[in-house]
Amino acid sequence: MYQKYYRHFLQAAQKAAPATCDLPVLHMACHSHHYWPDVTLEAINAYWQDAAQMADSKWEKIFGEKIPAFQRGIAAALNLPAPQQIALAPNTHELVYRLISALDLNKPLRILTTDGEFYSFSRQLLRLEELPNVDVVRIATRPFATLPQRFEQELQSGNYQLAYASQVFFDSGVAFPNLLELAARKPDATQMVIDGYHAFFARPTDLSAIADKVFYTAGSYKYFGAGEGMCFMTIPRDCQLRPLNTGWFAEMAELENRAEGVGFGNNWLRFAGATMDYSPLYKALAVLDLYEREGITVASIHKYVLGNQRRFLAAMDAADHPLLNRGNLIAHDLENGHGHFFTFRCGSAENAETLQAELRQKNVLCDRRQQLLRLGFALYHPEEETFERLFT
Ligand SMILES: Cc1ncc(COP(=O)(O)O)c(C=O)c1O
Repeated sequence: MYQKYYRHFLQAAQKAAPATCDLPVLHMACHSHHYWPDVTLEAINAYWQDAAQMADSKWEKIFGEKIPAFQRGIAAALNLPAPQQIALAPNTHELVYRLISALDLNKPLRILTTDGEFYSFSRQLLRLEELPNVDVVRIATRPFATLPQRFEQELQSGNYQLAYASQVFFDSGVAFPNLLELAARKPDATQMVIDGYHAFFARPTDLSAIADKVFYTAGSYKYFGAGEGMCFMTIPRDCQLRPLNTGWFAEMAELENRAEGVGFGNNWLRFAGATMDYSPLYKALAVLDLYEREGITVASIHKYVLGNQRRFLAAMDAADHPLLNRGNLIAHDLENGHGHFFTFRCGSAENAETLQAELRQKNVLCDRRQQLLRLGFALYHPEEETFERLFT
């Protein structure tokens, strides 16, 4: 009875929150905390064993074998030419802030972004904006159809040191139309970050054409399913930036100018931080191994989730729900331009809270942000799930 994908997530599925009704738990907050496949439990144990048996010498294994294996896996998933350019950190904030620290904060600093960025960046930006020399322009994400033109026009004309945009917006699930194409045309003087967190291991993404142009960030907590603590940022190969916020792990690089001042290596270690827990790395490698063994790719994950989303929409259209309906669904192009969750405008935070509680009574778990209720789709939703229980 176990499905081809669901069977890899049994431990998380069986331990899911206590039942409030007879139906099995339908976990639809996978766009936030995605279940971890069962293989990750053994991976945590393996990390403990390595720490116990190898003590300090575990670092050689981590830096010599584990990190390069992870970088190769990420590079393969995103079609990146240079795995050694993938910098690791426990969260994307650390990496993005390290990049910002490499910009000249003594000069006017112009930053272009959208009004749909996740708090990790948007809060940091608000604080930076308190500095007299920092000027931020936020392009409205809506209407989504004209977002690429509006963003690119500003990017090309505005003399920006930094541009930052999400590939899929966290508050709507809408994919930024043609973002990778417009990033390829960005001015050389502008550093550009693509926040790929809501696309990574959800939407097939080929970065080969912009690998040496943009910084791409994502992490393992969401669709990748390896939990918190393993994030990355890809670094253009010719990057000569010198982060002010530099960690001592960068000392492991072949430093370009050891004799004078602080040297930086010409690979990911330019953006390296400091001591961290690498058990999430072991979990991430276990996920990569599992997916390789089972032939699970980002394309097959996306195809499977699209099937779930179509069944959900069919059930929704056949029902007459006061909140979960097309009128309240935020979307641009559901078939081609969407991430792996749907967002519904509920009119007020109270409505969203009530709806979330009603769904909880039916053993459907989801999340909300103010008046927005988000319902996510994942590999571990059974193939025969109709989603009808949400609408009755
Ligand atoms: C779009 C986006 N970017 C980044 C993050 C995570 O940020 P950080 O790794 O800094 O905690 C999230 C988390 O939900 C997100 O939705």
